[in-house]
Amino acid sequence: MSIKFDYANLLKNKKIQCGVSIAEIENNRHLCDQARIRFEKEYAMNILGFHDLPDYNVEHIVSYIESIEKDYDDMVVLGIGGSALGNKAIYNSLKTVKKLNKRLFVMDNVDPLLIEDIMSQVDLQRTLFNVITKSGTTAETMSTFLIVLDILKKKCPDTYKKQIIVTTDKEKGFLRQLIKEDGYMDFIVPDSVGGRFSVLTDVGLVSSAFIGVDIKALLKGAANMRKRCSNKDIWQNPAYLNAMLHYLYMQKGKNMSVMMPYTNALYDFADWYRQLWAESLGKRYNIDGALVEVGQTPIKALGTTDQHSQIQLYAEGPNDKVISFLTVEKFDYDYKIANIFPNNDEVNYLADKNISELLLAERLATEIALTNAGRPNCNIIFPELNEYNIGEFIYLYELQTVIAGYFLDINPLDQPGVEAGKIATYALMGKKGFAEQAKEIHEYNQEKTRNGRII
Ligand code: PA5
Repeated sequence: MSIKFDYANLLKNKKIQCGVSIAEIENNRHLCDQARIRFEKEYAMNILGFHDLPDYNVEHIVSYIESIEKDYDDMVVLGIGGSALGNKAIYNSLKTVKKLNKRLFVMDNVDPLLIEDIMSQVDLQRTLFNVITKSGTTAETMSTFLIVLDILKKKCPDTYKKQIIVTTDKEKGFLRQLIKEDGYMDFIVPDSVGGRFSVLTDVGLVSSAFIGVDIKALLKGAANMRKRCSNKDIWQNPAYLNAMLHYLYMQKGKNMSVMMPYTNALYDFADWYRQLWAESLGKRYNIDGALVEVGQTPIKALGTTDQHSQIQLYAEGPNDKVISFLTVEKFDYDYKIANIFPNNDEVNYLADKNISELLLAERLATEIALTNAGRPNCNIIFPELNEYNIGEFIYLYELQTVIAGYFLDINPLDQPGVEAGKIATYALMGKKGFAEQAKEIHEYNQEKTRNGRII
């Protein structure tokens, strides 16, 4: 069964006065036609590779995993951003429903405590380390790689070459050179797929296959969503429709987009979405080079937990948010709430009900409360938590993000702001070729010290 998109409360109605009207969508249909033309053009330029991934032949991954699965219990991914978030999201979405036996750890920070936390939990001999970096240069990933390589060389000198796998560009970068020299098993991040769109490449599929996820079912779900999103009628096309609704809300000053899953299992997908939406749409210039400074700040929240933390703000604070709930209709596991105090009206109304019933009731209650407060909201409904629905969700949001970028007339595929930070890090850490930037940073620091604004 396919995921559903309930957009009723994104449309203008008696309660959602600030909503987008049907006429506004109809009047902007030409943007969809333009987006389709741009998509075809950029697809032909081989920069929208995510669109082909549902057809990806994954036999090389399946056979590699079959050949090593007996040897390892855990995998540690060394990567950051698009080379990490999807791996985490898939693992955490399915680990409980699928009762996954193997564990996945993601070292996506240069935090000594995170490194210690992960290294102290794994049995080194029975752990595979998957170094993922498209560019092969990212300081965070390279530094954790060097740390892990050093540990492995010392503690597992006979096996370490088999315990490291590298996922990177097919030709470029230092890691490619190392693969040749040391003979690590390697996987490829295709040129045509940007980091944050790469979860359905080897970047996310190798770790998913390792932990026991059916990666073919993931791709099947993505293929189904691709088909649904090829519909030229915007009202039947969830990616175009949600992109249009969010675009029109941005025009109305709704600069925040909250993703609020009603299950911990999907919480990391809200994190994945944060990167996708933020990096793709947050742009200073449009494609003609004019200053536009657009974007919509993605926020993650968790139902029901954040009902007791965020909903007060969402309902009564600034009306600047569009809220997307993620709901699972059917849970594979459930708990019945025991009827222990039948005569106590404070708790007996809960008795004999499934906890999932309470979860769904609270989600609906929050929707109603926000709607009554005039706050635009929608619901992405997963019939079940399984690979197929997750694959659908991934493709839906990837396409929706690109199309929203087209509506905004920006380039959703680049990330100049991220690159600027990477360059400053190289300069600060003394990388060769960055002396000029290091000098600028030194002057910046001196001026800051002179100003004496730190107390
Ligand atoms: O979406 C992107 O391209 C970025 O967020 C990258 O994923 C991130 O910067 C990591 O880059 P790399 O995979 O080259 O190490």
